[in-house]
Amino acid sequence: MILLNQVTKVYPGDKAPALDDVTLHVQPKEFMFLVGKSGAGKSTLMKMLTREEKPTRGKILVGGIDYDYLRKRHIPHLRRRLGVVFQDFKLLPNRTVYENVAFALEIAGVSSREIKRTVPTVLELVGLIDKGHKFPVDLSGGERQRVAIARSVARQPKILIADEPTGNLDPETSWGIVHLLEEINNFGTTILVTTHNEDIVNTLQRRVVTLKDGKIIGDQKKAGVYDLEAPVKERQIKVPGHKVAEKLLSSPKKMISRKPLGKKNIKIA
Ligand SMILES: Nc1ncnc2c1ncn2[C@@H]1O[C@H](COP(=O)(O)OP(=O)(O)OP(=O)(O)O)[C@@H](O)[C@H]1O
Ligand SMILES: [Mg+2]
Repeated sequence: MILLNQVTKVYPGDKAPALDDVTLHVQPKEFMFLVGKSGAGKSTLMKMLTREEKPTRGKILVGGIDYDYLRKRHIPHLRRRLGVVFQDFKLLPNRTVYENVAFALEIAGVSSREIKRTVPTVLELVGLIDKGHKFPVDLSGGERQRVAIARSVARQPKILIADEPTGNLDPETSWGIVHLLEEINNFGTTILVTTHNEDIVNTLQRRVVTLKDGKIIGDQKKAGVYDLEAPVKERQIKVPGHKVAEKLLSSPKKMISRKPLGKKNIKIA
């Protein structure tokens, strides 16, 4: 579960906010597109979730973790539990495909026995089982992105955040990546994708959230279409985020972690 409640982000030196009073609630297992013109605030919203940036105002809850209680030293642990995929892949150039995926597990503290079992499984999933020995430089863009996805899903994150994962890819390869994300979503992973690809958004008919000048101007919960200007009003958020936040925060079931987060007690739901 992801919740942003009245989140505003003003970068130092900027006058206009990059995010302006954004309230967004994403349910577990949802597949959501985040669209908007360049500069609308899409990457900033993603960075709020990965904690690359802090909000200027507002509340963020991800998988039972209240980010107000997140200490700096816990952020690497949090990131290992969120899957993150970028436009430029961010692979380790001196390691093979196999090693790139294995390394991600290694730093997450996974045993070598478990690594040996998991890496081939995820390489199989992304269709790269025969390319484990190759270095990133010897792969196509689409293959590199698939390694990046394999690396993220190897840790079985409950949430996968992909910021323009098809930004550098040709249309056909982009479709391969999107189908892979759909497959991962079918396994129960919540997926958030930013994209400028109208065709993909219109074909998939998933939830589409539109940002404009840092504000959410559209939230099409079902069968959303790529529409940067005219929000579909009747499909906008029905439950205001602050109500969800209040409910969670007053929950007797201790759904919100206020304990210092260590390697073991971060659980993303
Ligand atoms: N580190 C930063 N410092 C100052 N301003 C920033 C920073 N990062 C982003 N911005 C500004 O915040 C606004 C939103 O940027 P953001 O990168 O979130 O847009 P975007 O929707 O992801 O655009 P694109 O589609 O081009 O990736 C822009 O006006 C941008 O100039
Ligand atoms: Mg961006």
